[in-house]
Parts: sequence; structure tokens; C-alpha cells
Amino acid sequence: MMESGVMQTEIEKLRALIRHYERQYYIENHPEISDSDFDALMRKLEALEAADPMPIPPDSPTQRVGGGAELGTRLQHRNPMLSLNNSYDENDLREFGARVERLLEGAPVEYVTELKIDGLGVSLTYENGILTQGLTRGDGEYGEDVTANLRTIRAVPLRLAEAETAIPPVLEVRGEVFLPKDCLSEINVQRETEGESPFANPRNAAAGSLRLLDASITASRPLDIFIYTLNYAEGFDFATHTASLESMRRWGLKCNPSTACHKSIEAVQTYYQQWVEKRHELPYEVDGIVVKVNHLSQQQTLGTTAKYPRWAIAYKFNAQQAITTVEKIEVQVGRTGTLTPVAILKPVSLAGATITNATLHNEQEIRTKDIRIGDRIVLERAGDVIPKIVEVLTADRTGNEVAFKFPEQCPACGSPVQRTEKEVAVRCVNVACAAQLKRRIAHYASRNALQIEGLGPATITQLVDNELVRDVADLYTLQVKVLSKLERMGVPSARNLIHQIEQSKMVPAEKLLFGLGIFHVGESIAELLIENFLSLDALSKATPEDIESVKGIGPQIAESVSTFFSQNQVLLEKLRQAGLHCLTAAAVFTQTQASETVDNFFNGKTFVVTGSLEGMTRSEASHEIKSRGGRVTSSVTSKTDYLIAGDGAGSKYTKAEELGISILTETDFFEKLQ
Ligand code: IVH
Repeated sequence: MMESGVMQTEIEKLRALIRHYERQYYIENHPEISDSDFDALMRKLEALEAADPMPIPPDSPTQRVGGGAELGTRLQHRNPMLSLNNSYDENDLREFGARVERLLEGAPVEYVTELKIDGLGVSLTYENGILTQGLTRGDGEYGEDVTANLRTIRAVPLRLAEAETAIPPVLEVRGEVFLPKDCLSEINVQRETEGESPFANPRNAAAGSLRLLDASITASRPLDIFIYTLNYAEGFDFATHTASLESMRRWGLKCNPSTACHKSIEAVQTYYQQWVEKRHELPYEVDGIVVKVNHLSQQQTLGTTAKYPRWAIAYKFNAQQAITTVEKIEVQVGRTGTLTPVAILKPVSLAGATITNATLHNEQEIRTKDIRIGDRIVLERAGDVIPKIVEVLTADRTGNEVAFKFPEQCPACGSPVQRTEKEVAVRCVNVACAAQLKRRIAHYASRNALQIEGLGPATITQLVDNELVRDVADLYTLQVKVLSKLERMGVPSARNLIHQIEQSKMVPAEKLLFGLGIFHVGESIAELLIENFLSLDALSKATPEDIESVKGIGPQIAESVSTFFSQNQVLLEKLRQAGLHCLTAAAVFTQTQASETVDNFFNGKTFVVTGSLEGMTRSEASHEIKSRGGRVTSSVTSKTDYLIAGDGAGSKYTKAEELGISILTETDFFEKLQ
């Protein structure tokens, strides 16, 4: 058995190693080991920490997700987070340069150019190298405390790297949090199917993700960051902005690599021009460049106005726009019943793609922008973001345009729509609505869920319209005889489809869980839940508290999962009857082991192991408990069911006694294991 001191050294070594690999992967963009090897190291650290009596420090790599986030606390910035004055063309840029040079009375000026990342400005504070606070920009004077959510961003180090230059005792840096382009479009598609309006721009996406009440949902969004300002470093004095960037990089902070220094405004214009061409190749959205005077003494001389620094300017890119006509407005019904209006456009080419429609998000959006059928509109597309209507050319109206009236009935099933005060979305709440059912089946059959090949939109439409399928479980009752009568089906395709449906009974539990389309349960959350509960059956019996006790699952997800299972028992029973083996079988165990798991003393209970056991190490004890369906946590709380106390149990023993938690001796524990 490992002695505590030896264990601590091993834990610290492992933490340092994981921090190194995290930095290589998330900051340097240069992974040194495979994802699975990295995961294995993380699991090893988690197991060691669980077995060690020492408290886990908040900067341990295992402590990124802390569940619920306290939002709403507004805190004052050390000094205001200013905005930037904008320039849109070469003339504006020249004027900026001329003003700077005049105010500096002809002294030579060096300009630094950076990409202007389109996201949300934040400030991060490190005390003695440890991340202690993260605020949004807010109104510039006061920001919102988003520390818990910022901690989930892997490119934000929880602890600064030990550099050859010392780390300031207090360091405050500022940067931009953003979502990479491909994730942005993916999240928007997901939001629309789940009945939420898509994020209109990259900034809203970053802000929306960072201001979530459930940090575990933030953690499931691949947010990233670039630090662009060193705002305060106690005891440090830098001569230039570029020198401060260098130090921040050495301390392990992620700064954008495309920074350049120029001796003249002409050279700045060349840098801008290069990025006008190349910006589409970037995996994140940029809306311009930022030009800054490099010498900090010159920045001081130039000073600021109430809103902007005089030493910097944002030089914006022109958004890619096109003009076309709204031919009609259709309303689509999502998987959860949200009605989304979509403008059907006269096809137009924009940023390398032919655009035929644009989402109008919701009723409110149409009203605010006063979009009418027949209107000529300005369409904008930022990178991979869904094209949006930015303006109606009202001057071009002929009087023949028709205002759109949002339907009072679901266009698919005719039931009255529901509006709530809480949200802008209008919903069809008919659980039997055919349009929703079609979307649910399509999701169930999709590649990352049950992967039923050959079950495309045309077949799904026929199955639902002919009332052959009323829920996903009905798919398992289909027969070749009936299927082969559908249009464009025939006996061979029907046989093949039945075969594919049969095959889907064997998918792992996490795929089925994802396929059920529960709010907030994306692929990674489904995997995490199954890893902990092993089967859907066990998960369906869990209380919201049980679910929330899983590391990485916050209150909103827990509530959503628990509500789904309480409302869908009939569906689950039908799936069970259909023979979906993963409902009852544990994810990594055989059927027999699974039933043993479900029936034994440990299943579903939470344990803390403390002190030293004679017969096994704490880590072995944890393993034994987990393999029987139990959970092992490191600290005693009201959620703990049993404390297993070995020799020398200390504060955890006292705490368990205080909270009235049952205590097992090593002998009791071995008896239960038998
Ligand atoms: S410097 C006082 N540098 O753009 C100078 N800002 O429109 C403060 N931004 O509030 C900003 N990339 O959130 C700076 N490389 C960059 C930036 C950047 C994006 C954001 C920042 C700022 C906003 C101004």
C-alpha cells in the first residue's frame, strides 16, 4: 500500500504531466499523446485523488467542471475594460495613424497588428499562478463573475506554467472567448432541433455558452480563448505590448500567433489586405484586425477617451453581403415542437455558396425586422454561420409585399400552438404531432445514434403518414410484407431495412441514450452518464440528485434526464419488449455481471474511503466498489451513503459522525464484498 507522502508525490507528478499535455494540445496545437492515452492518465489521477485523504486543490486538472455556476454576481473591473473605436477603410486607418503621430510629436511609432477575434471579452485573474477569478466585460465597468464556466475551457490554464521568469503574484489578463466555426454551426443546428433559437452571431454563441447556469453544459461546448492584453502584473514593467505577449505565452497563456509589428501605416494596410483574403481559412471567426501602438510609454502619452484608447483601433472587414428577394415564408416543426419560420429566397450566391433560404429564428425576429413576403433584403454570411437577413430594403417596396402572419395552428398537425411568456419560441405541444415524430425518428436513426441505414426522410414520412410508426419503438414491429408496399421500397430494400433495424438492437447504451433525443443530452453527456450508471435502466431509476452527483453533470442536465424518464416509461417498456439489450445490460459488463451489479449492496450508493485498509489499497477498494455499480467520492457530504474507515481515519470520520452517515469498518466492507 502506498504511503500518503509517496502518493502525494506521485499525484503531483501526474498533475504536472497532464498540465503539460493539456498545454501541448489546447494551447500549442501540438498534441504529444493520443486522446485515449490522455484519458487514461486523467482516470489514473482521478483514482489516485479519490484514494488519497488530502483535499484535491482547485487547480488540479480533474477539477475543471464544478457543476452549478453562480451567475449574476457583478464585480468591478480593476480598471475599465474599454471598447475599440472602429475604422472601415484605408482613409480611417490613415487618419488614426496621422493622429497618433501628431500626438506623439513625430517620434517614431511601431504598430502591432492582431486579428480581431469575434467572441466575448473576458478578464482572468491569477493569484500566485492560480486562476482565481474570471469576469465578462459586462458594461466595461462591472463584469459578471463567470469563473466556474471559464474554468471548463481547456485552453484556460488553471495554473500558470513555471517559466524561467518568475510569475507575478497578481496577474490580470484580458482576452476573447470564442467558439470555433464548425462547432458554431453544429450547435445552431442542434439548438433549432431542440427548440431553441440559434445563436445569431459568434459573440452571442460565446456569451450564451459562458453565461449558462450549468457549467457542465459549458464544458460540453468546445469554447476556446485568445488572450490579447496584459492588464496588470504586480512587480513587472514591460516596455512594449509585444514583450508582454511574449511573457504571457511563456506563462502558458494562449495568445494568437498571427501578431505582427510594423514601422508604418502602409505596412498595416498590407497586413489587413492579406487577412481580407485569408480570413476564411481560419477555424474561428474574425471580424477585422486590431492595430495597437506597441510602446507602452507611448500608449500612456496617448491615453484614452471615455470609451476608447487613443492608441488602438479596430479595422473591420466588410461583411459578405448579397441582395435577394423573400419568395415565401415557411414554418418548420422541430423535434421538440418548436415552430421555426424560414425565409425561402430567390437563390443567390454569397461567400462561395448558393443560398436558397435563411432562418428567421422566431416570430419576434420577423416583427422586429418587419420582413414581408416579396421584400428585397440584404443577406449576410459570416464564415460558416447560417446566413441571416440583416436588413430589409424598405425603399424598394412596391406596396405588393405581404406581411406574414404566424400560424395559430401547427402547420403539420393542426393543433393550436402554445406561447409562453418565458420564451420567444412558439411550440406545438401535441406529443403525437407527425412532424415532431418524423424529426425524432430521423434523430434516432442518425449515424451517431442508432445508425439505422436506409431509414431516410422519404421512408420516415411514409411510415408516419401511414401510421405504421407512432414512436421509435414501433420501428421494431415493422415487417417486410408491409414495408415492401411503400413507394420505392420493394422486397430487397424492405429486408435490408428490417435487418438494419434488428442490428440497432445491439448498439451500446450511450448511443440509445443519445438517440432518445433528451434535452441537453448530446453524445458526450450520454457517454458520461452511461459510464457512471452503466445501463439505461439504472439511469432511469436515478433521482436528479443521483444524476447530479456525477462529476461533469450539472442541475439542468440532471433535471432534464430525470423528467424525460419519468414521462417516458411506456416508451422504455416498449423498447425493452422489443429487445433492445442495452436497456438492461451494463455498458461494459456482460448480462450476468450486470444483473449482479444491479442486485448488490453497492449499486447506486455513494462511498468515501478513508484511512488505511489492511487488505487492499484505497484505490483497489474504489475499484471494487465502482465495479459493483457504486460511486466513490473524495469528500464526505450529505450525499454520502457510507464511509469506509480504515486505520487512522481522521477528519472524514468526524464529519461522517456529525452528518449521521453510516460507517463501515474494514471487516464490514469485506463482508459486503463477499
Ligand atoms: S484590445 C482597450 N485586441 O474587440 C483595448 N480586443 O470591439 C481593448 N477583441 O472589447 C481591446 N480581438 O473584446 C483587443 N486582438 C484583440 C481583440 C480584441 C477581439 C474584442 C475585445 C474588445 C472588442 C472591441
